[in-house]
Amino acid sequence: MKKDKILIIDFGSQYTQLIARRIRELKVFSLIEPCNIDMDKIKFINPKGIILSGGPHSVYQKNAPQLNKEILELKIPILGICYGMQILMKILGGDVKESQQREYGKAQLYIDDHTDLFFSLPAKIICWMSHMDKVVKLPIGFTVSAHTDNTVFAAVANKEKKIYGVQFHPEVIHTQNGLQIISNFLFRICECFANWQLEDFVNQQIKKIKEKVKNENVICGLSGGVDSSTAAVLVHKAIGRRLKCIFVNNGLLRKNEATNVIDIFSKNFKINLHYVDASKLFLNKLKGITDPEEKRKIIGHLFIDIFEKEAKKIKNAKFLVQGTLYPDVIESTSFFGGPTARIKTHHNVGGLPLDMKLKLIEPFRELFKDEVREIAKILKLPEQIIYRHPFPGPGLAVRIIGEVTKERLEILRQADYILEEIIKKRGVYKELWQAFCVLLPLKTVGVMGDKRTYEYVIAIRAVNSLDGMTADWAHLDADILSEISNSITNKVRGVNRVVFDISSKPPATIEWE
Ligand code: XMP
Repeated sequence: MKKDKILIIDFGSQYTQLIARRIRELKVFSLIEPCNIDMDKIKFINPKGIILSGGPHSVYQKNAPQLNKEILELKIPILGICYGMQILMKILGGDVKESQQREYGKAQLYIDDHTDLFFSLPAKIICWMSHMDKVVKLPIGFTVSAHTDNTVFAAVANKEKKIYGVQFHPEVIHTQNGLQIISNFLFRICECFANWQLEDFVNQQIKKIKEKVKNENVICGLSGGVDSSTAAVLVHKAIGRRLKCIFVNNGLLRKNEATNVIDIFSKNFKINLHYVDASKLFLNKLKGITDPEEKRKIIGHLFIDIFEKEAKKIKNAKFLVQGTLYPDVIESTSFFGGPTARIKTHHNVGGLPLDMKLKLIEPFRELFKDEVREIAKILKLPEQIIYRHPFPGPGLAVRIIGEVTKERLEILRQADYILEEIIKKRGVYKELWQAFCVLLPLKTVGVMGDKRTYEYVIAIRAVNSLDGMTADWAHLDADILSEISNSITNKVRGVNRVVFDISSKPPATIEWE
């Protein structure tokens, strides 16, 4: 059966990806395109419904992103959210008023019309507002379907034309029944079928990969992270031993990580795994280096050198597997551009050595991370990989402030292992985006068994985040923190003090370097 699609036209909102994920949660496929998408492409996509996202602009600003009026002639149901609603109202002949005051946060929404969008919802709900401007006059043919104390036109509709607008954000978790509103749009208004299933996706991908690869060989850089691991297992299902995985141990991995990866992929999944122990090389190159960017560059370049050398040994290799996800694809094609300033040189393991002339296989280009986790479950990857916290390519090197030495790596590895064991035992591991230790380059005075000590400080970093772009420090129980601190100072030689990082991102970043 052909899958129904909802097209989200992006006007630059921080919530655009969230809209796409919510729709997929409801088992309808969704995709995001920039607001300058051309009509031919929309026709090719052939969506059952279109959602116009919010955005940071004001419709009257000089360079405000515009909406192609022809979209309205396609007779496809449309839902405009926030800026999306305002731009709709403006081009249809309504009026939007600029205001200097931003309405931000929770508001009581009174529902005036319980058909269509608000079907089966209570008379009032809490909704999430985040806007500067307001619609002050409706175009002909529109009626109000919900209001708040401050906003008369909080939700509007032209039912005949199936054009809807909401000033608030139904995709945000703070809007009560938000998912029901989206569900009403998908199933009552657009008449979608809930037929987006990851099991089907897996089978389609396996078939596609088989057809694409034929009798050639495929290389995959394994890092042990969920994306590359799941991609490897998927491709292995399609082409078996013709998949050749390369796993480079850069000596900056966590305790037992290299043996775990070998056990899981070589022994368990019987994947052809080429293991390269390059720890000494990396450690040598990092000697005396303290600057974070320099560390990252050295590690990144050395990784590519080694990977390339190993890959060249594989005969008839024509393809390279990468675990690229949908957010990376959207970011690189966005109308608004990606992040403007380079904060850190992010080197991803598997980053493509350009002169290798390999064609790419990127089975997850259309997926979000939580969907990859679902696929990992379908493919029966072990829990430790499915729920593994993100781990940076440069590994522990960016968690050792100052010079990376063998002794410091060992201290950090032990402390990190203790932290992970405790939060897993306490059942908080899966709730956190990341939790790890950082080794500081300073020593402080302590006392142990009546003796003065002068040893290292370990910092604990634990954060909650949706995508790593912003993060809050996790308010771990004092009880857990105390167990972590006692355990580290008792068991790890060379550490006499543990501190807890209470900075959010921004202004801090998640990693310390
Ligand atoms: P920051 O420290 O920039 O990190 O707030 C955001 C997220 O990215 C991870 N991270 C990396 N991932 N290669 C990676 O694959 C890298 O070089 C790298 N640096 C940071 C970090 O762990 C966090 O999840």
